[in-house]
Amino acid sequence: MGLAVGVLKETAPGERRVALVPRALEALASLGLQIWIERGAGIEAGFPDSEYETRGALLAGSADEVREHAQVLLAVQVADSPGLGAQHTVIGLCDALDNPRLAAAIAARGASLFSLDLIPRITRAQSMDVLSSMATVAGYKAVILAAESLPRMFPLLMTAAGTVPPAKVLVLGAGVAGLQAIATARRLGALVSGYDVRAAVKEQVESLGARFVSITLDGAGAEGEGGYAKTLDEEVQRRQRDQLAEVMREQDVIITTAAVPGKRAPLLLTSDMVRVMSPGSVIVDLAAERGGNCELTRPGERAVEFGVIILGPVNLPSSVPYHASQMYARNLVAFLRNLIRDGELRLNLEDEIVRDTLIARNGEVVHTKVQALLETVVHA
Ligand code: NAI
Repeated sequence: MGLAVGVLKETAPGERRVALVPRALEALASLGLQIWIERGAGIEAGFPDSEYETRGALLAGSADEVREHAQVLLAVQVADSPGLGAQHTVIGLCDALDNPRLAAAIAARGASLFSLDLIPRITRAQSMDVLSSMATVAGYKAVILAAESLPRMFPLLMTAAGTVPPAKVLVLGAGVAGLQAIATARRLGALVSGYDVRAAVKEQVESLGARFVSITLDGAGAEGEGGYAKTLDEEVQRRQRDQLAEVMREQDVIITTAAVPGKRAPLLLTSDMVRVMSPGSVIVDLAAERGGNCELTRPGERAVEFGVIILGPVNLPSSVPYHASQMYARNLVAFLRNLIRDGELRLNLEDEIVRDTLIARNGEVVHTKVQALLETVVHA
């Protein structure tokens, strides 16, 4: 019997995505894989069991049954379970750099684990980059949430009842989420500006029809390893905030997406800065889960401070589960294509993609960064 992959119904509260959509099954079958789906796994994302069955999947009545038949277990958010054992390889998002204990628990059960949030941002891995896919969804949805909360309309309207000026939207952090937020806000007709510490993104911001806000950091290099931003020192951050405060006054909406991989999100908006904004304006802080770009953000909540509405949404991709799952599944199939040869799992540790994402193997945590984190947790 060849290798079997299984899709578990997500167990995290509020999670509506599913790791594989029916359309992805054909590609997996062509890799020689048998596919098991836990009944109801796709229903909340809009994919009923029958669609998986029509495309050749076998349906299992429970997660245990999936684990019994499948050696490779696919998830969106990886969860530990007593049903895991040495025969299993788990693939999904497990945020191992933030939550190394989950990785350790899975390793302790003897299972192997790949964390898709650690896929390197290299050209060859672009098709597997789930964080980029999910950030795209989040950037789009952030603008929709802002538009919903703003007591104004986004587009310029010239009507017999007078002229409505366009809303002013500022997007802080022009990575994947930020660029999608800029594009979405533009489509709704807002006047958009974007800012990022990496000057290299100026062109991308402008190509989307937004203005790039230039802030001088006096030569402080903001670009680190692999084209990512690095953490700015405190003095530079203070200068950045002073200049941002000027731009903020006139904004109706601010969407913050600033992130530095593996670090707490940089603080861009202090309480004093929020105070200068007009009542009724809206901040959507996409970094809420990583400590927030705004001092007043409460993760998962809607706060109102100085009349400004501050949203700290968590897991936005799950609120657009159909397309988020479709994109996730595409990435996952590309990842599996790289991992499977002749119907078998083949772990080529020379491959950067395999090496960076492999967290646990043969009952041990093998990822050096996760190992180091676990040591600090143990010694803390
Ligand atoms: P990314 O790494 O592509 O972009 C982050 C951007 O922030 C980079 O362009 C970086 O240069 C910029 N940045 C870093 N420090 C900065 C600073 N001090 N000032 C201005 N810009 C700065 O990240 P991506 O994929 O776009 O994700 C952005 C954020 O959205 C992350 O915090 C991510 O966790 C979050 N996210 C939130 C979701 C939600 O549901 N709330 C869902 C998906 C992503």
